[in-house]
Amino acid sequence: MKKVTTDFLIIGSGVAGLFCAYKLSAFGEVTIITKKFDYESNTNYAQGGIASVFAKTDNAEKHIQDTMEAGAGLCDPESTRIMVHEGPARVRELLDIGVPFNTDGEGNFELGLEGGHRENRIVHAYDRTGREVERALLTCIKSISNIKILEHHNCVELITPHHLKTNSVMENRCFGAYVLNTRKGEVIPFVAKKTILATGGAGQVYLHTTNPDIATGDGVASAYRAGARIKNMEFYQFHPTSLFHEKGESFLISEAVRGKGGILRRLNGEAFMKEYHPMEDLAPRDIVARAIDNEMKKSGSSHVLLDTTHLVKPEIIRYFPSIYEKCKSLGIDITEEPIPVVPAAHYMCGGVETDVYGRTNIRDLYCVGEVASTGVHGGNRLASNSLLEGVVFAHRISENIYNEKLNGHLHLPSEATYIPEWDKEGLKNTEEWVLISHNLHEVKSIMSDYVGIVRSNLRLERAKRRIHLIREEVRDYYNRTIISNQLLELRNLVQIADLIVQSALLRKESRGLHYSTDYPEDRNPSRKDTILWNEEL
Ligand code: FAD
Ligand code: SIN
Repeated sequence: MKKVTTDFLIIGSGVAGLFCAYKLSAFGEVTIITKKFDYESNTNYAQGGIASVFAKTDNAEKHIQDTMEAGAGLCDPESTRIMVHEGPARVRELLDIGVPFNTDGEGNFELGLEGGHRENRIVHAYDRTGREVERALLTCIKSISNIKILEHHNCVELITPHHLKTNSVMENRCFGAYVLNTRKGEVIPFVAKKTILATGGAGQVYLHTTNPDIATGDGVASAYRAGARIKNMEFYQFHPTSLFHEKGESFLISEAVRGKGGILRRLNGEAFMKEYHPMEDLAPRDIVARAIDNEMKKSGSSHVLLDTTHLVKPEIIRYFPSIYEKCKSLGIDITEEPIPVVPAAHYMCGGVETDVYGRTNIRDLYCVGEVASTGVHGGNRLASNSLLEGVVFAHRISENIYNEKLNGHLHLPSEATYIPEWDKEGLKNTEEWVLISHNLHEVKSIMSDYVGIVRSNLRLERAKRRIHLIREEVRDYYNRTIISNQLLELRNLVQIADLIVQSALLRKESRGLHYSTDYPEDRNPSRKDTILWNEEL
């Protein structure tokens, strides 16, 4: 049987997967699989930067406090403390790897400001931090001989005991993944001592998103199917300021623009954030996105304005070269006229539940980055804490695995010999596919109409019924059909939509990013995480 065996299988090549690969390569052979081209990831589009304590006026307690406040009472204190305290060392490692962060003449980081932060702490490379992080990490790992990176390889399913051709009862554990080589159209098992999911978020479950096409929630969906605990999926973060343009191009206008003094205005020019929060334009993201949503609903307008025209022109062009150029290419000179903006789906605050070493409830399966729920984001992520979380917990996964190796616990379980070939046969029915592919648009529309920034029980129940119908159709089609990237992504997005709706229905309060008109005030605070698992297993 054709199969690949490796020490560590990493699924995803964004910041979390690549940093983890870099660390794990010190004590084993690493295979990274990635769905499309190696750079294609949310990471590649990150603008603002990485939040970390470097300013003389700042300290870890302040960063922890800002994170917890943004998180609306749901951040896990231990993981938050770990992220903040270990962050600066990881940021310095990125610098050593070759990320060209902006510094002043004396080598100190130039630190930006973003919403919810009371101190300047955003380490950045102009407004293209993610692209520089991705480029530096890819260059670094390509120079390491025991890391292999396979593009156009899509994780279909995690391999767990129910796949094995053996009757012996065993605990749930992960032996690797069935992987579709999308260029050859074949599915082969990748068997590993440890499997690390680093598949990122799921912004594509909504019509308007800042995320690229790869963000289809594959990691959460496959971990759920395999029996992992899925946490707090109701908290989907909408970024307040995505460019609104008739060409419909999705492009983020970084929160750092407001950090530099950008002001949100109604179409008539009135600034409105002072009516919503004492931190005004730099309030936490959930509050700003909801305020914009409210303003648009009140006025019937399709967008609001982000005004930078009062700021120093050369400074704006120097600090935000990509935003300046992008807007200019669409006919908007941001130094002369305000930018039309709308909120867009941006970040999955929930995910696969992990401990502070990235371990899930499935033995040998780790999760890191946006796919994971380490507890640091609670009900609403603080700006620029995501890249930070990715590198901090990637490092901690490598520490944990290194300790297992030292203790003699790092080996392939004997049951791995029973892993069967992928036995799925089917027919490609292109005619039917046309019907099924309409489901994708329908899922996105349902999620945007009923499960967006403002929710209600009525809307959620309606979404649930419709998503369940689509889920059954897709499941039936999947069982009869040769798999493709499109079908896998559709199947996963439907699963993600269902998990978000189920979680939202379970939370009987408004908190952070989950705002329900049925519970407009925080009257009956539960402060509990929402946990879901696959009851069909
Ligand atoms: P990603 O970077 O998304 O990487 C996921 C990888 O998994 C990709 O390589 C993908 O192809 C692969 N993959 C997915 N499914 C499969 C599959 N089935 N099989 C194989 N491979 C698969 N955060 C900040 O902290 N600061 C910022 O300034 C910031 N700005 C942002 C701006 C934008 C426009 C966006 C979209 C996000 C921003 N974020 C920011 C959030 C942050 O970029 C992401 O949360 C973070 O980069 C996620 O990293 P990751 O490695 O977990 O996932
Ligand atoms: C931004 O630059 O506004 C994005 C920051 C983030 O998502 O953390």
